[in-house]
Amino acid sequence: MTTPLLEVADLAAGYDDALVLHGVSLTAAREQIVAIVGPNGAGKSTLLKAIYGLVRPRAGSVRLAGVDVTGERPDRLTRRGMGFVPQIDNVFPTLTVAENLHIGSLVLPRAERQAELERMLELFPLLAERRRQRAGSLSGGQRKLVALARALVARPQLLLLDEPSAGLSPLAIDLVFEKLLEIRALGIGVVMVEQNARRALALSDTGYVLDMGRNAHSGPGPALLDDPRVVELYLGGSRRTASSSTSTSTPSGMNPPTK
Ligand SMILES: Nc1ncnc2c1ncn2[C@@H]1O[C@H](COP(=O)(O)OP(=O)(O)OP(=O)(O)O)[C@@H](O)[C@H]1O
Ligand SMILES: [Mg+2]
Repeated sequence: MTTPLLEVADLAAGYDDALVLHGVSLTAAREQIVAIVGPNGAGKSTLLKAIYGLVRPRAGSVRLAGVDVTGERPDRLTRRGMGFVPQIDNVFPTLTVAENLHIGSLVLPRAERQAELERMLELFPLLAERRRQRAGSLSGGQRKLVALARALVARPQLLLLDEPSAGLSPLAIDLVFEKLLEIRALGIGVVMVEQNARRALALSDTGYVLDMGRNAHSGPGPALLDDPRVVELYLGGSRRTASSSTSTSTPSGMNPPTK
């Protein structure tokens, strides 16, 4: 078996006295999208922060391409190829698009920065048109693309994204999710936390349901969408009518009572 790109084992972490993660495990491979979903307060953001060294792990381990990087500082992780895009405050609003990307490129050797910046503008033509605009003047969707491009310009192997679709219009959500597929095709591993659980699971290679700081379910994303336990407890019930029961007493056109 090849070494996974990211291997999180029994990670425990929290804030002050409060333990939030009680031993969470997950694996991500190159050229894979992993979606982490679960109720509010489940610890999804804390998990990404603990992986990226923003919250100190109390137990367990994080391995990046086989190297133990548990509790390593974010800037060092970035140099090792782990990128993180937080849910908010992920661009410098008073700087231009090009300046934001330049800052992202600073971890690269000086001679390689310009080429990488141009590669990003090719990958994000929408941003190329707006390279001299301040990031703060862009729409929410465009700003999200700046944040993605700023992380990508550092040439990560792994990208951690907290709620990439939050606060975006349906059109902008499509745009961002399409970009994630392109990013995966570049050979990068993507681990994202998403409120938009159905959309995220539908396009993910692997999905994890986190509940109260523990792994609740995992499997191929689309398979989780078909798992009645996941649908019932975490996705707000089935979209389709419940499959017909043997009872004939339910009048047609009425749903059986929900538990
Ligand atoms: N900086 C902090 N200090 C103290 N407690 C925190 C801090 N950040 C989060 N928590 C607590 O940790 C728990 C998990 O929070 P976390 O943000 O990881 O959940 P989440 O799954 O990302 O939720 P959401 O879906 O609302 O984003 C919550 O009970 C939250 O109140
Ligand atoms: Mg969160």
